[in-house]
Amino acid sequence: MGGVGAPLRPAARTLNQRRGISSWLARWFPKTPAKSVVALKTPIKVELVAGKTYRWCVCGRSKQQPFCDGSHFFQRTGLSPLKFKAQETRVVALCTCKATQKPPYCDGTHRSERVQKADVGSPL
Ligand code: FES
Repeated sequence: MGGVGAPLRPAARTLNQRRGISSWLARWFPKTPAKSVVALKTPIKVELVAGKTYRWCVCGRSKQQPFCDGSHFFQRTGLSPLKFKAQETRVVALCTCKATQKPPYCDGTHRSERVQKADVGSPL
């Protein structure tokens, strides 16, 4: 028992599994989230449908602005989209600069010098 080719003892196997899981978690879910980047400098008008749930891009890396396309996960940002349900059917302006104080809606912050001087694709 315990010779070459013998299976790992349960305690050793559990430890190896924990190390594997924790390194995987650290890689895909970093403790310090990345900063959001400026996707665009103007809002996008969309018609929201009452009762429908949407996922607004928080990280700014989605190619489907203003909505999430999973880039936050695949680029390992540690950020998550903002999920919200439309209360009524109406056209709204959704933020793409990611600096709004009223996410997911545009509040005009994109007109600020801070946003206008920033490069698209870079954090504020
Ligand atoms: S697009 Fe972000 S505040 Fe208007």
